[in-house]
Amino acid sequence: MTMDGGRRSERMRRGCRRAASRAGERTAWLLALAVAVAGAGAPIAAQEWGEEAPCAGALDHPDALPELLAAVPKYGNTYVLVYRDRLRQIFQDLVPAELAELRIAAYDGSPAAAIAEGALFRPVDLLPFDPQQATRLVADVLSGELDAALLWAPLAGLLVQELDFDYQLSLRTVGLPSPPPAALQAAVTAADVPPCADAIRGFLEGYGVLPAEKLVPIDIRDLLHLEAPPRDLEAARAGAALYAQHCARCHGPEAVASTDALAPVDLLVSLPRFSYPGFLYIVLNGRSQNGMPGFRGSLERQQIDAIYQYVRERAHGTLHAGGAGRRP
Ligand code: HEC
Repeated sequence: MTMDGGRRSERMRRGCRRAASRAGERTAWLLALAVAVAGAGAPIAAQEWGEEAPCAGALDHPDALPELLAAVPKYGNTYVLVYRDRLRQIFQDLVPAELAELRIAAYDGSPAAAIAEGALFRPVDLLPFDPQQATRLVADVLSGELDAALLWAPLAGLLVQELDFDYQLSLRTVGLPSPPPAALQAAVTAADVPPCADAIRGFLEGYGVLPAEKLVPIDIRDLLHLEAPPRDLEAARAGAALYAQHCARCHGPEAVASTDALAPVDLLVSLPRFSYPGFLYIVLNGRSQNGMPGFRGSLERQQIDAIYQYVRERAHGTLHAGGAGRRP
């Protein structure tokens, strides 16, 4: 499929989804029709369609913004440029001479200034962040006042979702993984991801925004000091479900090399051979030329640890495939 074809169907898919959620309940045949029209685009989970807007009213409660945005999965260290679609080529190529001509702004008190110097080769205008007027920079981009805004991805996701009804804006990850802006820093308190935070993740994914971690390989030297998690059957059992979800399709349901598994390696043999940092390194970075995807930006350290614990217990013979305990 050409880039344009993919883009067009993605656009239609988003447009359709937005329309469907506006109209509320729609019948199944309409959904099927819309999917058929969207053509070769990624399949749409049925539950995405009938949902009411899960972030409705979020901007009316600026005090709750930090906690909400801290809970957006995967994008906590990511900054994006938000710009009008017609400038897409410039922001893909990032040619310094072209960028120098543009009006770009960011909120003060965030790593955006450093990101702009490092990735855009130029300073940006800095404005104080006023939670009462959080929409300001994106509204300025929409009105043409600005060419682009450099924003923390969870905030950008919320704002673009709320403001850009006609899908005129594009988002693109820039810079190295960086912490949230000072004004929006908060601890994640809820164990479950709130529906709005999850919707923001889905929205950013729909726009093709990559978590910043995906753009930089992890250096093995940053992992060497880490210690393997302790042996713990409960954690290992939790890891069984994560393994099934993220690894089994290639490494097989049993985690051993089998004729119907895609990966030509036996994790029950590999794992005891690798140091823990070595295992982490492979899982985080992948070996893309050999078909092993990198999971940085997709799985949390804690989740990789649980998978490690599961495979380790399987290698020790303490757990059966799927996490069931061994028969006494
Ligand atoms: C899309 C398929 C795919 C998925 C999904 C996948 N792997 Fe792999 N993995 C591979 C392939 C292929 C190799 C062999 C790469 C090579 O030979 O360099 C591999 C190699 C590995 C190795 C190195 C083993 C060795 O002996 O060299 C480890 C460790 C590993 N995978 C762990 C995982 C874990 C943990 C997950 C889930 C979080 C996972 N993989 C998900 C395809 C996959």
